[in-house]
Amino acid sequence: MLRKMKLVPVLLVSGIIGLNAQKDIPVYLDDSKPLEERVEDALSRMTLEEKVAMVHAQSKFSSKGVPRLGIPEFWMTDGPHGIRPEVAWDEWRQAGWTNDSCIAFPALTCLAASWNTNMSLLYGISIGEEARYRNKTVLLGPGVNIYRSPLNGRNFEYMGEDPFLASKMVVPYVKGVQQNGVAACVKHFALNNQETNRHTVNVNVDDRALYEIYLPAFKAAVQEGNAWAIMGAYNLYKGQHCCHNQYLLKDILRDEWGYDGVVVADWGGTHNTREAIFNGLDMEFGTWTDGLTMGQTNAYDNYFLADPYLKLIRSGEVGTKELDEKVRNILRLGFRTHMDKNRPYGSFGTEEHALAGRKIAQEGIVLLQNKNNVLPIDLNKAKKIAVIGENAIKMMTVGGGSSSLKAKYEVLPLDGLKNRIGTQAEIVYARGYLGDASNSYNNVVTGQDLSDNRPAEVIMAEAIEVAKTADYVVFIGGLNKSAFQDSEGNDRLGLGLPYNQDKLISALAKVNKNLIVVNISGNAVAMPWVNEVPAIVQAWFLGTETGNALASVLVGDVNPSGKLPFTFPVKLNDNAAHAMGEFPGSEKQVTYNEGIFVGYRWHDKQNIKPLFCFGHGLSYTTFEYGKVSADKKEMTANDKITFSVTVKNTGNREGAEIVQLYISDLKSTLPRPVKELKGFDKITLKPGEVKTVTFDIDKSALSYFDAYKHEWVAEPGDFEALIGASSSDIKTKTTFKLK
Ligand code: BGC
Repeated sequence: MLRKMKLVPVLLVSGIIGLNAQKDIPVYLDDSKPLEERVEDALSRMTLEEKVAMVHAQSKFSSKGVPRLGIPEFWMTDGPHGIRPEVAWDEWRQAGWTNDSCIAFPALTCLAASWNTNMSLLYGISIGEEARYRNKTVLLGPGVNIYRSPLNGRNFEYMGEDPFLASKMVVPYVKGVQQNGVAACVKHFALNNQETNRHTVNVNVDDRALYEIYLPAFKAAVQEGNAWAIMGAYNLYKGQHCCHNQYLLKDILRDEWGYDGVVVADWGGTHNTREAIFNGLDMEFGTWTDGLTMGQTNAYDNYFLADPYLKLIRSGEVGTKELDEKVRNILRLGFRTHMDKNRPYGSFGTEEHALAGRKIAQEGIVLLQNKNNVLPIDLNKAKKIAVIGENAIKMMTVGGGSSSLKAKYEVLPLDGLKNRIGTQAEIVYARGYLGDASNSYNNVVTGQDLSDNRPAEVIMAEAIEVAKTADYVVFIGGLNKSAFQDSEGNDRLGLGLPYNQDKLISALAKVNKNLIVVNISGNAVAMPWVNEVPAIVQAWFLGTETGNALASVLVGDVNPSGKLPFTFPVKLNDNAAHAMGEFPGSEKQVTYNEGIFVGYRWHDKQNIKPLFCFGHGLSYTTFEYGKVSADKKEMTANDKITFSVTVKNTGNREGAEIVQLYISDLKSTLPRPVKELKGFDKITLKPGEVKTVTFDIDKSALSYFDAYKHEWVAEPGDFEALIGASSSDIKTKTTFKLK
């Protein structure tokens, strides 16, 4: 009350003497002024020391603002599947807060498998709200490194093998996050396709593969999603670390793509002051003093872009032009995020977010095989269901590296099934195999005690016994987030399932014909038992609502509609990177000899039948495709052509189909993939319903990157449009001409 009374005269006086309250606001704080004016104004008020303080970290996940000017600190968080628990100031271990348990969303592989851009937007908005509520400036995600080998330990954090799919899926995620006044930080730019030797390996890739395969998703995130932040990768390219790489960060990102956001170094990915100064790095994080592992008092002053930078400037060896450029980028980030007065407030750990996660999970689960219509589980007939496998009872939100979370809750698969089935059938559980019983990561403890001292044979024999008398057997196994499974910092050692699961699955198949194998992983796995098992479901790391999402698909409340965002090869050598002999390369070099022939592009070229192809996924209903038609037979480079196809639901329940368009260049100067994905649409159809799907194609869908000319080229001639339910299941096609 008192305050209000005092304020009135002050305002009156300023009115009388003609002071315009608006005019007194410094330009940089006046949001009616153009962004660039505000940036320049703030920059002009800063001292050298204040500027240098902004370009490197002050704690594990934060960097300084300018307190004197009211510019707040910058706070980063992992990403990309939920908001990481707070960590101690200079440690990876969690700080032990009691109010930072988040909603864990499905892994990005699952999101990609939904092939639904609405799911991507929902994901972005939801995780963005969580990040905003926790007052973060930047969310360290999404990740869009291309799936080159099924052994890459971090594939689960990315969006699959196809640049078109990843590009379409990344944009809404970025936009959704940024609606909340939180920057999305797309990572890891670029060519971070393996974990082995990630700090030392130099990637040799030809320009064509770089532009056609490895860059498009980043470019889309930057140009279409307007991502405000991007993270440099750990590895090297052309002999320079990607966090300060002239080719990637200056020539491509800034000059070719016109990027105006910040470049954030991956944690410990900065190695050299001069390169960091001149090659486009804006914010250095996580360096400590020798990379990721060793700390030292005042480590932050020793960062490459801290005192060593200041020294070079003070001695006159380097100027301040680059520093100003970095600070401009950071200020721009600040105005877009935590200095935006209209920034919404966000929300955290809500039911709404959990349900969003569940919806995404349900749309991403892929039905790989369903012989004899074993699925969905018929609860009218089933009296006893045997659930077998460690992944039915193992928490997956804890572990796997920087994406590890402290989730508010996680519904385990076994519990999800019990919740859903209740008393309708008896559920018996047996573990079947002993995998990884660890129960903590970065001091986040799961609270689970998975220790079991029985010999492996006993554990397996028990499961087989249980399976014999059940009406259905649901085996829930796969990989987990422990080292050398699906985990940051190391790659898998082989394509096979660990812990003798293959033997167990074959044994289960022998004793029960209603076997359903649920593979939980972020990677393709070998399935030597594929012909012995009637039903196979690809479930991913699904987050908080794992068990509920999985149960809803298994019992048929939800009709599965996900499709694979990457190829499952029969054996490792069927994958291009392995067939050409360069994964993971040596400590210092890896060469992508396969060039553009990644994933299905390789299988098509070599005619190698995959176990399950890119784009594959079944439904509990069936679809019939009509004949594709085109609005014209010929197009020009400035023109577009529209293809239409009808799709009918020929089964007796509602379902969604992902209709895929591939383009094939029938004759070209350079070798080209047999076909490439250039369109997709997910449509929902009631029984008997017919919908028409249309795809517009312009010359960008026909182009390849000509490395010699350094430009995209669409060669006149004959092309083919192929429409199908997967990359191997083409239903209809037509030819057309580019004039
Ligand atoms: C990872 C990044 C992550 C960062 C911060 C690094 O080790 O590569 O993806 O965002 O740590 O946790």
